[in-house]
Amino acid sequence: MNFKEELQKYQELINDELSKYIRRDKCPEEVLNNSMEYSLMAGGKRLRPILVVAVYQLFKEDIEKCMPYAVAIEMVHNFSLIHDDLPGIDNDDFRHGKPTNHKKFNEATAILAGDGLLNNAYIVISDDLEKSKSDELLKKIKVFKEFAKAIDRMIAGEYIDTEFEGKKISEEYLEYIHKNKTGALLKLCVRMGAILADAPQEDLNRLTSYAEKIGLAFQIKDDILSEEGDEKILGKPVGNDKLLEKCTYVSKYGLEGAKEILEKVTKEAIEELSRYDEKAEFLIELAKYIKERNK
Ligand code: IPE
Ligand code: IPE
Ligand code: MG
Ligand code: MG
Repeated sequence: MNFKEELQKYQELINDELSKYIRRDKCPEEVLNNSMEYSLMAGGKRLRPILVVAVYQLFKEDIEKCMPYAVAIEMVHNFSLIHDDLPGIDNDDFRHGKPTNHKKFNEATAILAGDGLLNNAYIVISDDLEKSKSDELLKKIKVFKEFAKAIDRMIAGEYIDTEFEGKKISEEYLEYIHKNKTGALLKLCVRMGAILADAPQEDLNRLTSYAEKIGLAFQIKDDILSEEGDEKILGKPVGNDKLLEKCTYVSKYGLEGAKEILEKVTKEAIEELSRYDEKAEFLIELAKYIKERNK
């Protein structure tokens, strides 16, 4: 398998699907709709929706059934990025190599664009619920609830992340921030893919553990990139964690310490999938990509 090619194919699939949800009609709130489109289509890696689809494919082929959930989570993710960049949170001017939403538009528009994307995610899922057959409904309502609860965790993580700026933090609390602000959505994606595909409980447990580990790894790598990434490739500022005195794996354990933990957690994630055949190859390569990525 050529991982880069597979990843690109998935990204195209997700981008095509997302573009179906863009509102381009003439209306008084046209600029607000443009600002949502601006962030949603700015060039994200689409890792979260890709996880939904790739995990679904471990068990079933009719991926159109999980697409609304893939779309919805990418909307939520972009809401979280728009708000994360706001002056009151991380105060970042660039993302995806472009001005952040509040820099391109203004703060009021950015706040509302975030709200809009979050709410649109719920519209997408409720549309799917309405269309579902009754024998699928309970399962989907459970997914809906997990969806809402994961967003609740992400918001909690963001709150603690800002609260702890400039403060000393314990190892436990630092892990708590990462598990919530970033891990919760990534775990949700894997679990949604598995639950929607009716994965057996044993597989769901194993995949959940894989997800928890890549979730932590993802944010540790984000911390590392904030320290030593290439701003041009990354498309977002380097050095801001330090400037804001954020509690990160780099500030707590040093660059080398953070890299060692990243290595260990990635290895553990991959081990969770060792019992699956070549079907899981993409997910294994994805864990490696999370560790090695430069953007
Ligand atoms: C960035 O996430 C925010 C974090 C949770 C660390 P991604 O790096 O997945 O964002 P994009 O969408 O690909 O830019
Ligand atoms: C992002 O955390 C987490 C969420 C947006 C929920 P960061 O603030 O560390 O991510 P970047 O580095 O701005 O993408
Ligand atoms: Mg932040
Ligand atoms: Mg940030």
